[in-house]
Amino acid sequence: MKGLFLTLEGIDGAGKSSHIDALEALFRARGRQVTRSREPGGTPLAETLRGLILEQPMDALTESLLVFAARRDHVVRVIEPALARGDVVLCDRFTDATFAYQGGGRGFDAAVLSTLERWVQSKTGAEALLQPDITIWFDLAPEIAAERLAGARVPDKFESQPVEFFRRVAAGYAARAAGEPRFVRIDAARPREAVWQQIEAALAGRGLLASAAGSAP
Ligand code: TMP
Repeated sequence: MKGLFLTLEGIDGAGKSSHIDALEALFRARGRQVTRSREPGGTPLAETLRGLILEQPMDALTESLLVFAARRDHVVRVIEPALARGDVVLCDRFTDATFAYQGGGRGFDAAVLSTLERWVQSKTGAEALLQPDITIWFDLAPEIAAERLAGARVPDKFESQPVEFFRRVAAGYAARAAGEPRFVRIDAARPREAVWQQIEAALAGRGLLASAAGSAP
């Protein structure tokens, strides 16, 4: 079967990571091979960069260069090979997070981000950029996300930002999603089961829950 690149996005505290296990199970039950990953991260080099990005103070250009450097390694070593094998790639965040956090949150130049995106996501010998086939966007008011995060764990550099930062991040996601059919907006304020039903319905509605050839449905 053709590979499927699915990403999960949303502000910190929106609840996206808590649905990845269920998504993996859903695809595996249909006979699909699943590669799970996350950004920043997904390779030894990118995980090392993740530690720096999440802990070290740095300016927005340095942060953007590091997230895209981590992404390049991840794309070349993990994502492209997995898609070439026909896997479902479930990735917790990808480039939309850069446009939302560095572009929206930090106010960094979106034109520079678009240039880096072209460099990093160009496929060899092809005009098209590597982009997710579907992006599940957990949309939640920053005030509710902050309440959910409070006391949950020791906050990293981003999680400890004020609610105004997350308002800009949320606006960054909304701008990126506008007019992009690959985005599925999920109302992440609903109870967990209702959130899951929205995800399943969106995947089914797009015909993405077909079984791999030869496997039981
Ligand atoms: P996580 O906590 O969902 O794993 O994400 C790590 C943090 O990194 C999160 O606060 C968002 C941030 N981030 C960026 O600022 N830019 C990016 O490009 C990515 C992928 C994540």
